[in-house]
Amino acid sequence: MSQHLLTICYLIGSVTFILGLKMLSNPASARKGNLVAAGGMTIAILGTIFLYSYQEDNTTHYLGNHIWIFVALVIGSVVGTLAAKKVKMTAMPEMVSLFNGMGGACAALISIVEFNHFSKEATHDASSSKALIILLGLVIGSVSFAGSMIAWGKLNGKIKDLSFKGQNILNLLVLALALGCTASLIMNPYQGMMLYVILSLSIVYGIFFVMPIGGADMPVVISLLNSFTGVAAACGGFLYDNKVMLTGGILVGAAGTLLTILMCKAMNRSLKNVLIGSFGGNAKVASGGSSAQGHHKEISMSDAAVVMSYANKVMIVPGYGLAVAQAQHTCHELEKILVEKGVEVKYAIHPVAGRMPGHMNVLLAEADVSYDLLLEMEQANDEFSTTDVVLILGANDVVNPAAKSDPSSPIYGMPILDVELAKNVIVNKRSMKPGYAGIENDLFYRPKTSMLFGDAKKVLQDLCAEIKSH
Ligand code: TAP
Repeated sequence: MSQHLLTICYLIGSVTFILGLKMLSNPASARKGNLVAAGGMTIAILGTIFLYSYQEDNTTHYLGNHIWIFVALVIGSVVGTLAAKKVKMTAMPEMVSLFNGMGGACAALISIVEFNHFSKEATHDASSSKALIILLGLVIGSVSFAGSMIAWGKLNGKIKDLSFKGQNILNLLVLALALGCTASLIMNPYQGMMLYVILSLSIVYGIFFVMPIGGADMPVVISLLNSFTGVAAACGGFLYDNKVMLTGGILVGAAGTLLTILMCKAMNRSLKNVLIGSFGGNAKVASGGSSAQGHHKEISMSDAAVVMSYANKVMIVPGYGLAVAQAQHTCHELEKILVEKGVEVKYAIHPVAGRMPGHMNVLLAEADVSYDLLLEMEQANDEFSTTDVVLILGANDVVNPAAKSDPSSPIYGMPILDVELAKNVIVNKRSMKPGYAGIENDLFYRPKTSMLFGDAKKVLQDLCAEIKSH
């Protein structure tokens, strides 16, 4: 009976994961989707704790160890909740990386425990496929753990990029060695120490794999590591014949892979280029793309207010600076004031604006900006030529024309917002400093462009006051 109930719990878990994932694809339902999937996961976990049983010596055994399990669950839940409440939106990729690393470590630990059981019990020919699954979980899980920790350190600035000549060859050698040892251990599961050699080599590979990758490519790598963790968890699902773990792992693996591909597409780069190209890392110090020169012109607050109040159409381009300034609510306020004055207002959303996929959509949704006003890059590019004023709020790389015109620029080939097609461009940022890719932006020196310096929130508050007074 309890086995049937457990199967139903797992079925509920699997279905809610799929529904939750589907709901995550729309900002309006994303929050609910997260809760639905978390609810399903809770049912699957409680089902496993109370209903899972196995037969040994003709008796049925249940899990037991409830105190240990619940103490760990409570500690994990408290730490996770506090971290999620405290984290700033701009530091989200760091947190995702850290949590993903924990998933990888978990898969690797499961493999270590299970391999030790396996090598004590195994009859040689019965189980080379079981050994393969366990060791795959170990290799993939530890690569994901080590890589995610390095990614976390890089994103919070504690670890610097490191690359040297021949690094890719060394990486491949370490990986080949890890896989060679894995094959040897499968053939002879009684070499106890070999397990730890594989673990060490996989950790070294994970570190070497992420070390050279440049800052702007980190989200792609994090997403890739995320898919690794999914595959490692799926290995656990195979191992324990646990359907929900298998479904969850496969979904994470597939979603991570798709997101990786989408982000590469948004930056017009191949995955190979991301992994060995070092965009935004070494490229930052390359001379290409950093030669914009000339004089920029500034616009006063009252002139900016006049230009925008009398425009027919204003396109707002949000970027990382808007998120840092937490100016999304004031931005929505400005939009409402302009609409009241009869101005058509829309938002142009670049797929990698900000610091994580969908960052701008989430930010604007938080301020109740209507989804209908958010234009994806292609739609926005079609509309810039009929736009009177583009207001760029803390965005830089995503509007840098060097991506189209300067083959030596590290962002060359990345699709960008064609803001220069509009009649006027007003750029709000605090200084003339470069953005994330560390390169100059020629747009700021063009005749149609005017700079409106200051913190995005303060500037928007002043703009709202000024427009109201007209
Ligand atoms: P950035 O190119 O980083 O430019 C942001 C600009 O905001 C900076 O130039 C900065 O100039 C300004 N700024 C900072 N704080 C501000 C504040 N309080 N008020 C007003 N302005 C402020 O951002 P972007 O255009 O959104 O481009 C995103 C970049 O990040 C791309 O290179 C992308 O590849 C990379 N990236 C994207 C992702 C994803 S998936 N979204 C993840 C990681 C990296 P000042 O210092 O002069 O103010």
